[in-house]
Amino acid sequence: MVILGIETSCDDTSVALLKLGDNKLDILSNIVSSQINIHNLYGGVVPEVASRAHIENMIPVLKKSLRDAKIKSVKDVDLISTTCGPGLVGSLVVGINTAKTLAFAFKKPLVCVNHLEGHIYANLVREVKSQKSKVKIKFPLVVLIVSGGHTMLVHMKDHLKYKILGETKDDAAGEAFDKVARVLNLGYPGGPIIEKLAEKGDAEYFKFPRAEMEGKTIRLESGFLKKLPPNLDFSFSGLKTSVINEVRKKRRVTDKFKKDISASFQEAVVEVLVQKTLWAAERKKVKTIFISGGVAANSYLKEKLKKESLKNNFNFFAPPKILCTDNAAMIAAAGYFKYKIKGPDSLKKIKIDPNLRLK
Ligand code: KG4
Ligand code: ZN
Repeated sequence: MVILGIETSCDDTSVALLKLGDNKLDILSNIVSSQINIHNLYGGVVPEVASRAHIENMIPVLKKSLRDAKIKSVKDVDLISTTCGPGLVGSLVVGINTAKTLAFAFKKPLVCVNHLEGHIYANLVREVKSQKSKVKIKFPLVVLIVSGGHTMLVHMKDHLKYKILGETKDDAAGEAFDKVARVLNLGYPGGPIIEKLAEKGDAEYFKFPRAEMEGKTIRLESGFLKKLPPNLDFSFSGLKTSVINEVRKKRRVTDKFKKDISASFQEAVVEVLVQKTLWAAERKKVKTIFISGGVAANSYLKEKLKKESLKNNFNFFAPPKILCTDNAAMIAAAGYFKYKIKGPDSLKKIKIDPNLRLK
């Protein structure tokens, strides 16, 4: 079975082809056309510009993906999977209409998946070259999704069964990386640049706040006080503001300052993400932890969560770096499981939903 995936929810135009063989999903091609150079000029994604770029990129990316996969035509594809939300309206529309057109013209089944499901299922794709590690997934599990738009802990009892345990109340982790990078004039996207600077910085130099780590204290009917366990939500805007305040206090921003502030900021984000993921896994009594999303490309976060997971006897899985940030291979993988379990979506009924929730 060959699955064609299409992803255009934000600023990456991506088309991938996966092949199902021997119970694993192999990547035949996974082309990602990044718009970073365009959006870098503005310090973040400009929705109208992203939408136009998707229109220009879509057909060349589709053709290259087919060529690289050595698939002659969409005729040879068995299933088409596309992202229908959440994301930018003008960006989503390009992907979904391409998918619908191909499904109609070539009479192929179509499934529409949630972008976050894609990030989760990136854990079930392996590149052909590094095919040694077949992922044997065992439910239930807890997954930490950390991207530019979302920070979320999800409990999965089975395929496609999601329960949100906690999410960010304000900025997503990736968004905080991007905003801190912007105030330091580092460029976009901020995550990889901050990670690099942090390698040579002092993570203890600044003592930044870790929000939402204490449970609330309530008064019982008896009059006694009771401390509740911490919730599993996140908040990164206070941390971001503390970083911005330090930058504004500084007359001259030196390289050493950039390194120390990057390391201290990254440390605060990672500490909260790792601690809350472990709490979630303990509370739900799962044996497996997944991480996914663009911020999972951060080696410091990945290694720290891996180390702590293994120390606490959890199995740990993370996608290869290339599958952490937005790509269509993960959309094809999620689409394969959705099609297998729920069948195709109706071509007439599917539509984009920029605020689509994971359910
Ligand atoms: O998943 P993704 O590609 O797009 C969304 O769905 O949002 O995530 C993009 C986000 C950006 O905020 C980017 O700064 C962040 O992921 N990111 C990183 C790293 N690589 C990408 N954050 C921290 N460290 C990285 N190495
Ligand atoms: Zn994403």
